[in-house]
Amino acid sequence: MKNSKFVVRGGNELNGEITIQASKNATLPIMSAALLADGSIKLKNCPNISDVANMVKILKSLNVKVKKIKNNYIINPQNASNSQIDCELAKSMRSSIFLLGSTLSKFKTTTISMPGGCKIGARPIDISVNSLKKLGVKVVPQGDCLFFDATKAKAKKIKLRLPSVSATENLIQFACKLKGKTVIKNCAREPEVVDLCNFLNLMGAKIFGAGTSKITIIGVDKLVGVEYQPIGDRIVAGTIMIAVAICGGEVVLKNGVPYQNKKLIKILSSMGCKINIKNDIITISRQNKLSSAKLISTGCYPSFPTDLQSQMLVLSLFVEGKTRIVETVFENRFLIVGELKKLGARIKTLNNREVEIEGMQFLKGGEVLAQDLRGGASLVLAGLMGKAATIVSNIACIDRGYDSLEKMLSRLGADIKRQ
Ligand code: EPZ
Repeated sequence: MKNSKFVVRGGNELNGEITIQASKNATLPIMSAALLADGSIKLKNCPNISDVANMVKILKSLNVKVKKIKNNYIINPQNASNSQIDCELAKSMRSSIFLLGSTLSKFKTTTISMPGGCKIGARPIDISVNSLKKLGVKVVPQGDCLFFDATKAKAKKIKLRLPSVSATENLIQFACKLKGKTVIKNCAREPEVVDLCNFLNLMGAKIFGAGTSKITIIGVDKLVGVEYQPIGDRIVAGTIMIAVAICGGEVVLKNGVPYQNKKLIKILSSMGCKINIKNDIITISRQNKLSSAKLISTGCYPSFPTDLQSQMLVLSLFVEGKTRIVETVFENRFLIVGELKKLGARIKTLNNREVEIEGMQFLKGGEVLAQDLRGGASLVLAGLMGKAATIVSNIACIDRGYDSLEKMLSRLGADIKRQ
């Protein structure tokens, strides 16, 4: 529902067991790469989130057959037709940019609308565009769209200006069936990039070096249909772990991909959380007061993830000591600060990339607005510590990436309702 809200009342510990949903940021590029299959793809246990539902709409607009059976998607791209990605749909979801690589590979020409920025930043696509140009793709601006022609593309070595996740994933998809050897240097190392490569290699692609800053792709003619389950969502897992750090208690996380969350686990342990990992299962507990992390600086993987920055900012309000948070990835990812101040938080903004937080604060509850996906989830975390009710509105932006956040938290003992 458009105007739904979360009503959160703090004070409860979190206890119990949770299975973490599949990763939004792995599922979306994998759904795009399914276009490249010469057969039918079955994606299992996909997250029930609006970004995935929108990606299905975009695929269907390209005449791809998509069938949803519970949380499984059967995707058959064999009758897909080369049509411009629906502009309105593309604008509604930034991740449509991931379709650039797969549609260009499949149809040889494609038109995408400039996905536009979002609240956390301008979200340019220059690295994808310039890299494809270096591979011989012709790019022609057409109004607020871009027309790409890959009929004369050639495999070669390229180096990215920045290890951009979307650019890396577009180039991998584009080069899978491009004759010859393509080498991408300074590429993104995120676990979701690795998952995309694992999916494509299972289909018969020849991709080497996933997870390192140099990926080599040998073009193949055919990619067969496969069954695949995207990896667990490290950001959702991290959000739940930080919720336990805020509320106290003990929670067991299954499918929480601990080895892709090392930085967060190291920081939470150093602050005083007890975290045990056994056979990929994370057990996190918090009994005593936490001490501050002192400095949290986000960066490209394996640095601390920007997608967990807002959550750690909220946690920093409640610990003993001062915390400095530096956001190096996006230029506008402190939107939550204004909302937290409505709850009585005291936060010092040093510049658009740096804030300083005194700990040992108590929030008074109140009405706040979710402005971006991860900031919105973090406002819910703030409500878990507030004495009085915290009402979070515009929760549609939280539903983009969390499969019923209120169900996850209330199953663990939190007092949170969707209204
Ligand atoms: C992906 O976004 C994720 N989204 C983001 O998660 C994540 O925060 C980000 O990677 C960084 O890890 C998905 O995977 C769907 P980038 P993406 O290209 O690919 C600049 C969430 O909450 N840049 O690595 O857009 C850009 O402005 C979302 O789940 C260029 O300058 O990230 C940004 O400052 C938020 N030119 C930085 O690089 C480009 O062509 C990182 O962008 C591309 C990016």
